[in-house]
Amino acid sequence: MTAPKLALATASAAEAAVDALVIGTVRTEDGVALQPGAEAVDAAFGGALVETLTALGATGKADEVVKLPALGKIKATVLVASGLGSADEGISGEQVRRAAGAAARSLVGTARIASLLSTLDLQAAVEGAVLGAYTFTAYKSEPEKKNPTVKVDFIAPEDGSAKEHKATLKAATAIAEAVTTTRDFINTPPNDLYPGSFADKAAALGRAAGLTVEVLDEKALRKNGYGGIIGVGGGSARPPRLVRLTWKGARAKAKVALIGKGITFDTGGISIKPAASMDQMTSDMSGAAAVVATVVLAAKLKYPLEVTATVPMAENMPSGDAYRPGDVLTMYGGKTVEVLNTDAEGRLILADAIVRACEDAPDYLIETSTLTGAQVVALGKRTAGVMGEPAFRDRVAELGRAVGENAWAMPLPEELRADLDSRLADLANVAGHRWGGMLAAGVFLREFVAEGVPWAHIDIAGPSFNDGGPWGYTSRGGTGVPVRTLAAVLADIAENG
Ligand code: BES
Ligand code: MN
Ligand code: ZN
Repeated sequence: MTAPKLALATASAAEAAVDALVIGTVRTEDGVALQPGAEAVDAAFGGALVETLTALGATGKADEVVKLPALGKIKATVLVASGLGSADEGISGEQVRRAAGAAARSLVGTARIASLLSTLDLQAAVEGAVLGAYTFTAYKSEPEKKNPTVKVDFIAPEDGSAKEHKATLKAATAIAEAVTTTRDFINTPPNDLYPGSFADKAAALGRAAGLTVEVLDEKALRKNGYGGIIGVGGGSARPPRLVRLTWKGARAKAKVALIGKGITFDTGGISIKPAASMDQMTSDMSGAAAVVATVVLAAKLKYPLEVTATVPMAENMPSGDAYRPGDVLTMYGGKTVEVLNTDAEGRLILADAIVRACEDAPDYLIETSTLTGAQVVALGKRTAGVMGEPAFRDRVAELGRAVGENAWAMPLPEELRADLDSRLADLANVAGHRWGGMLAAGVFLREFVAEGVPWAHIDIAGPSFNDGGPWGYTSRGGTGVPVRTLAAVLADIAENG
């Protein structure tokens, strides 16, 4: 599918000659109301828009889309009213993003669209429109034939210059593309996306963006002592990889290490998972996909940073060559780990990657992974758990919330470290109990972060994959979380160090 052309509108909302004009509605105590800035559109409808929308059942709540024929009252053929929810505490960017997404989902197949939501928040309206329109049909032999959307015109907010608006449109488009790239990786099934093919695709994307690319294959990994990646990847006929992608911005202000878990399929290995929902483990490389897309984004937006993504990729399979519960692995850098459960594989490949990334002496290290089912139990399907060095952890969680990707700071309790003590090795890969499973995984990772490096670990086991229906701008399947958080953290570091 060719991406629609995204542009700043040249006509006003009432004058936009398009198939559909999208405006926002607000939920109030007295019923539905129009978004600020819709006065001229309302006037064109003789001031009867609220009355008409009410008669159609509109309430202004989120994920509500009501369409009405414009019949010549405005230049657009159809008026699309998308719910923003309550405006009692103002209208947040995330409300705009979701309303734009819901409208876009309802307009797949509409050729020309204009948006008035963008007057509330241009960046959010663009991101919501692109992400809401996302579909993944690569594996349908007969994809539903819908005409592609050719153009979306965004009406600019009143404040800010045309130059600023152009820059915002460009950044929002790039960020949304990074999210769709991530979704594409996640949605590609594990028979086609395995360590070798994932590494090839990541390397190709990196090269096209002008990044420095390094790919270690299984021979190089073994030779260099990547015991975690080799151990986990050993059970698969499709051998593991470690991909490194570097963006070196001009006048780089800081060095940032990104790491993402790239388990292309997680059966659990010899500690095999139950059959129910095992198919969802196609998404166990969501963290890897997110950091690959983010380092490419850093290049596209020319962040004044040096960003290196270190991405371990492996398939966790049971076989005669698989690692066993009871094995002791010597990790990259020399620490030893006793494997008590082969289903706690993510932390093993990540440990190798963290040690490697720390050799570059980064100013910040951010790692993200679909690491624990315990994250989903603790925080649900839509809120990521953020652990790590307290100040940086809090900064990452706050920036995540600011871009509408819910993130919550979680502790790394000291007492959990002793629960990872091993009879044989430096530490075990699981605690002997199931309490605080998300935190225990974080405590395990901490052992591999070099002294003094501010680091954050984002557990996205829940938020990375939507196994329910679509909502707002979130499609089914891969969501692309936490790409926008990572982008916000990079932008913040570029600005404030
Ligand atoms: N990939 C899973 C975690 C996961 C669970 C991601 C549900 C997305 C949805 C991870 O490798 C895993 O299996 N973790 C184990 C750890 C346990 C053995 C300590 C888990 O959470 O059960
Ligand atoms: Mn697992
Ligand atoms: Zn896993």
